[in-house]
Amino acid sequence: MNEHEKILKEVLAYIKPKAEEKKKLVNLAKKALEIANEEAKKIGGKAILAGSVTRDTWLPDKMEFDVFVLLPPNLSEKKLEEFGLVIGKTVIEKLKGKYKIEYAQHPYVSGEIEGIEVDIVPCYEVKSPEKIKSAVDRTPFHVKYVEKNLLPAMSNEVRLLKQFLKANEIYGADAKTQGFSGYLCELLIIYYKKFIELLKNAVNWVPGEIIDIEGYYKKSEYKKLRKKFKDQPLIVIDPVDKNRNVAAAVSAQSFYIFKKIAKEFLVNPSGKLFFPREIKPITENELIIYQMKRRTELILLKFKAPQVVPDILWPQLRRCADRLEKILRENEFVVLRKDVYTNEKDLAIVLFEMEVSKLPIIQKRVGPKIFNLEDSGRFLKKYKEEALVGPFIENNCWCVEVRRRFLTAREKLLDSLSKDEKILKAKGIPNYIAQEISKGFELICETEKIMELVKKDKNFGRFLRKYFEKESLI
Ligand code: UTP
Ligand code: MN
Ligand code: MN
Repeated sequence: MNEHEKILKEVLAYIKPKAEEKKKLVNLAKKALEIANEEAKKIGGKAILAGSVTRDTWLPDKMEFDVFVLLPPNLSEKKLEEFGLVIGKTVIEKLKGKYKIEYAQHPYVSGEIEGIEVDIVPCYEVKSPEKIKSAVDRTPFHVKYVEKNLLPAMSNEVRLLKQFLKANEIYGADAKTQGFSGYLCELLIIYYKKFIELLKNAVNWVPGEIIDIEGYYKKSEYKKLRKKFKDQPLIVIDPVDKNRNVAAAVSAQSFYIFKKIAKEFLVNPSGKLFFPREIKPITENELIIYQMKRRTELILLKFKAPQVVPDILWPQLRRCADRLEKILRENEFVVLRKDVYTNEKDLAIVLFEMEVSKLPIIQKRVGPKIFNLEDSGRFLKKYKEEALVGPFIENNCWCVEVRRRFLTAREKLLDSLSKDEKILKAKGIPNYIAQEISKGFELICETEKIMELVKKDKNFGRFLRKYFEKESLI
C-alpha cells in the first residue's frame, strides 16, 4: 500500500457511517418510503428514494435522505405543490417527527425524525428527461442512471470526494458555495473510477474542461459546447440530458480550489486536507496591522438580513455589493476589493475595502470644445453660479472647478442608501435587500466598531481573516 492509499484508508475509517447508523438511516428511509407510497397511490402517483441513501454515498455527519414523490403530469403546478406538502407532512407526522417547509423549485417538506433529516420533494412523473417541467423532475432519471453505473466499490470513493470537497468548502451546488453537487461527485467517480485518478486528471483540467461520460458529442463539437456553456469552467454533460451541464454551479474559484487541493494531496499526501482547518476570528491587533499595512479604509454596510432562503439571499447580497461599487465608482471613489457576509439569520454585511475613499473639496469639470458654440453656451450658463474657479480653458475646452458634493465614500453611501424602498429598487438594489435597507442600516468604519461585530459573531471574525489572508489559488 502506498502513502496515498494508506491515508485514504485512514480517512475512510472516519467518514464511513457506522453499521448501526447505517441501519437506522436505511430503516427509517424504508418506512418513510412506504408511507409516502401509500399516500401517493391515492392520487395515482408513487414515491422513490433519491440522493445519497440510494447509492450509499452519504457522509455520517449528514444523516439525511431524500424521498421523491412522483405525481401525474396532468396535475396543475398548484395541485402538485399542495399534494406534495400534504404527503410530506403526513409522512413526517406518522413517523412522529417535526417538519418545516423549504423552497427549491417548488416548496417541499423537510422533516426531522430522531436526528435524521428527511427531504420530501414532489415532482412530475414524466416518461423521459426531455419531457420534464422543472429541474426536480430529472432526479428520478439520475437515480436510475447512478443505480446502474455506480458500482458498490465506488461508494467509498464518492465519500472521499465529498469529504475532500466539504473540508475545503466547495461541496454543494447552492448559491453560497457554488461548488460540486452530490450527483456531480457520483458522476466524476463513475467516470474516473477512483478518487485518486480523479485528482490526477483534475490537476490538468483547464477552464472549459469537458467531461462527456456517455460520449454524446464529437471532439469537433467541443468548441460549440464551450460557447453553449459559456463562463462555466467545468462542463460535465448530464448522462440523462445532453443539454445540461451538471457542473454549471461550479464557480471559477471552486474550480481552481479543487485543482489546487488535488495537486496538494498528490504531491504532499496528508489526511489534513480532508478535515476543515480551524480558522480563528481576526483579533483587534491583527485588524489594526492589516489596516496599517494596506492603508485602505474599510466600510461595512450592516443591516438586518431579509428572511429569505440562502439561495436567494446570497445572490442578492452579491448583486447589492456590485451595484454599490458602481455607484461609488460613478462618484470617483474606488473599491479595491469587496465581499459579503451573512449568518443567514439576522445579520447581513457588505464589506468594501476602499482604494480611494476621500476626495478633494474641489472637483474639475471638463466641458465642450470652445468651437462648439451651442454646447459651450449651455456649459457656461450651467456653471456660471456654481464655479469656484473659472470658467477657464484647457486644450481648447471649457473647464470649471466646482465644490464636490460628497467628500467621502461613506457620505456617498449614506446618501444613496437613505432612501425609501422604491427609490432603492430603482437604483438597482435587489428587492429584498432594498426592503430591509429602507427600514434601517448602519455604516461602520471604525476598527473598534468592527471588533464589536467580531465579538458578537465569531464567524464574521473568521470571514474577515479569510478576507485578508486570501490564499493563493495556484
Ligand atoms: P441532496 O442535496 O440531498 O444531495 O439532493 P445528495 O445527492 O443526496 O447528496 P448528500 O449526501 O445528501 O449531500 C438529493 C437529490 O435531490 C435533487 C438532486 O438532484 C439530488 O439528486 N434536488 C435537490 C433537486 O432536484 N433540487 C433541489 O433543490 C435539491
Ligand atoms: Mn441527500
Ligand atoms: Mn436533500
